[in-house]
Amino acid sequence: IAKMSDGNKLKDLNFLVTAGGTREQIDPVRFISNRSSGKMGYAIAKAARDQGANVTLISANSSLPDPRGMKIIKVNSVDELQTEILTEFKKNNVLVMAAAVSDFKPKKIAKQKIKKLDDENSISLVLEKTTDILKEISKLKKNNQYVVGFAAETQSPEKNAKIKLKKKNLDLIVLNDVSNPKIGFNSDLNQVTFISNNGIKKTTEVETKDKIATELMDIIVTNFKD
Ligand code: CTP
Ligand code: CA
Repeated sequence: IAKMSDGNKLKDLNFLVTAGGTREQIDPVRFISNRSSGKMGYAIAKAARDQGANVTLISANSSLPDPRGMKIIKVNSVDELQTEILTEFKKNNVLVMAAAVSDFKPKKIAKQKIKKLDDENSISLVLEKTTDILKEISKLKKNNQYVVGFAAETQSPEKNAKIKLKKKNLDLIVLNDVSNPKIGFNSDLNQVTFISNNGIKKTTEVETKDKIATELMDIIVTNFKD
């Protein structure tokens, strides 16, 4: 029998993780999405489980197999993700928001498949901003809750991550410099910088997402006082 848990650092903590990338429907056969594979979020959910936490994983369109020993909720769009987080957040001590959430969605979803017409060489898609789920959920944060966000940056990474940490009222932000094609997205490897709201900063090596997830658990254990 496989051992589900090899530690107890997070015993009795309820842990909510979001992973994957949202999809915004354009018409019945097309959508807007992003390159997130879900690997980082899934690694985090498993690392929390392995430290004894009760884990809920909200997964947006990942093709990874369902991890054992946790509650799994599948979603597609930003709106669905927001609905599920709103229900789950109050039951949890920790939220790790690893999902890549669409910033914009089509203002109208076409009911029929959009046709290309002979006399039109271009079409326009009107997009509207989505809700910043993390920013909104952090407003509901109680003293006994710890919220971790991610920052995907291609320029001035540290400066931008710190702005997000503040703006979204986070306890910790995990900075991904996505300008390096060798790491991130579908890779099993990644390199991140953890920046906590008390100013502590730590950059990892280029290492497996599993290792990064374990390091994240250690930081949460150290910083989070129930
Ligand atoms: N996020 C969210 N809801 C959104 C957009 C982002 O909850 N509508 C969350 C992401 O899950 C991530 C964090 O906010 O944890 C930062 O996402 P990121 O895309 O790096 O930053 P944005 O605030 O969206 O800003 P921008 O994309 O313009 O850099
Ligand atoms: Ca964004």
